[in-house]
Parts: sequence; structure tokens; C-alpha cells
Amino acid sequence: MGLTVVDHPLARHLLTRLRDVTTPPPVFRTLAKRLTVLIVLEAVRELPTVEVEVETPLERTSGRLISPDLVAVPILRAGLGMLESVTELFPEVSVGYVGLERDDVTLLPTSYYEKLPPLQGRHVLLLDPMLATGGSAAGACAKLREREPAEIRFACVVAAPQGVEKMAREHPDVEVFAAALDRDLNGKGYILPGLGDFGDRLFGTGPDSGLPPPLASLGDRGSA
Ligand code: PRP
Ligand code: URA
Repeated sequence: MGLTVVDHPLARHLLTRLRDVTTPPPVFRTLAKRLTVLIVLEAVRELPTVEVEVETPLERTSGRLISPDLVAVPILRAGLGMLESVTELFPEVSVGYVGLERDDVTLLPTSYYEKLPPLQGRHVLLLDPMLATGGSAAGACAKLREREPAEIRFACVVAAPQGVEKMAREHPDVEVFAAALDRDLNGKGYILPGLGDFGDRLFGTGPDSGLPPPLASLGDRGSA
């Protein structure tokens, strides 16, 4: 158990464009969805499958379906940027939510929301694009574990060494899948080189998000 870094030129291509500070939120969202597909492909590789019989137009044959007990759990809010890829790949998936917010100073996560389907004996795919100190991912795993899932897999976009080590220490049975293992964290807990604040870039809420000015500030030009 440990870290799997997705090794594919397309993953590197998409991540490079995500890292680019000039990539605006609409493009960022699309790139995040595409890259998540590649990460999830790797994350589900070892999931159990069940044998089924199917009738092709020509004859009966057997095939395998991925475990029907998959539950996706995005960590709010940035994990939402990865969810749609999972629901598109697995339309039958159940979805639970864990809301965590990291304090800017202590870097510790506080929990503000939790809505989870039954997890006992199920396979959970936990989604959060950034594994920085690891506090959020490890905290979410601790919450999920109370509900006794068969297994948790954690899919992220970028991992920092500190987060990978924390996960290995606190949740050694949780395999981590990422598009990159970055170098370090800065003094504010941001991943280096990283891609900045994923949630802000996804939802256009950062200070430099390029939001259009409020209508009121446009004077006459802003009225109907
Ligand atoms: C970000 C990110 C992770 C967390 C990672 O969320 O999406 O959840 O920080 O940092 P950690 O590994 O040090 O815990 P944030 O708390 O900024 O909330 P947001 O998703 O609402 O933007
Ligand atoms: N959260 C982010 O969105 N980015 C980081 O680099 C670290 C935590």
C-alpha cells in the first residue's frame, strides 16, 4: 500500500495546463474533469469485479463488471471538481459528502458537513484534488472508517510528500492515487510547485479570479 502516480503523457499534459496560473476557471474545470478520469482509471484497477453472463447480438458470453458497491465521497468543496468524472464513468455509484475546511493558520481541518450512504462492507473512492499536510484526507478517512467500509481508495490530483507520509502513518491500508508527487509545502501549507488553491480556481473565488465587476460598479452601463 502507498502512493501510485499516474504515469501517462496525457495526465502530464492535463496537469501542466492545470498548473498554469493563466488557466481560467471554465478551462480549469474541464481539465480537472479530464484528468480525474485518468486518475480514477488507475484507482479502480484493483477493485473487485463480478462475473456476469451477457447475450451479444450473436451469442451468450461472460464478462466482468466492476464491484457494484462503489461509493464516491468528494471532500467539499474542491472534491466536487472530481465528482462528475466518477458519476459519468459509474452512473450507478452512490455519492456521500464530507465537508472539511482547513484553517489558514493552524492548517487543521474542521468538519462542517457530512452526508453518507451506508458504507459497511462497501468500496469507497474518496476524492480531494489536493493532498497537502494530509490533515483533510486523513480526517475524512477516520470519519469513513467509523462506518466500516471494506476499503477506502483516495484519488487526488497533486500530493505533497508530507500528506503521503501522514496517510501512510495513519491509514496505511488506504492506497493513494495522484497525477503527481510534488516537492514540498510552503509556509502556508500550499503545495510546491502545486497549482494554487484548487477550490478557488475551480469556483472562481480567489482574489485574482478575474470575476467581472458587480453591476452596480458599472453605473448606467450596468442597468437594464
Ligand atoms: C483544500 C483541499 C483539501 C485541503 C488539503 O481544501 O481541497 O481539502 O485543502 O490540505 P491538507 O492536506 O493540508 O488538509 P480547503 O480547506 O482549502 O477547502 P475548499 O475545498 O473548500 O477550498
Ligand atoms: N489546498 C489547495 O487548494 N492547494 C494547496 O496547495 C494546498 C491545499
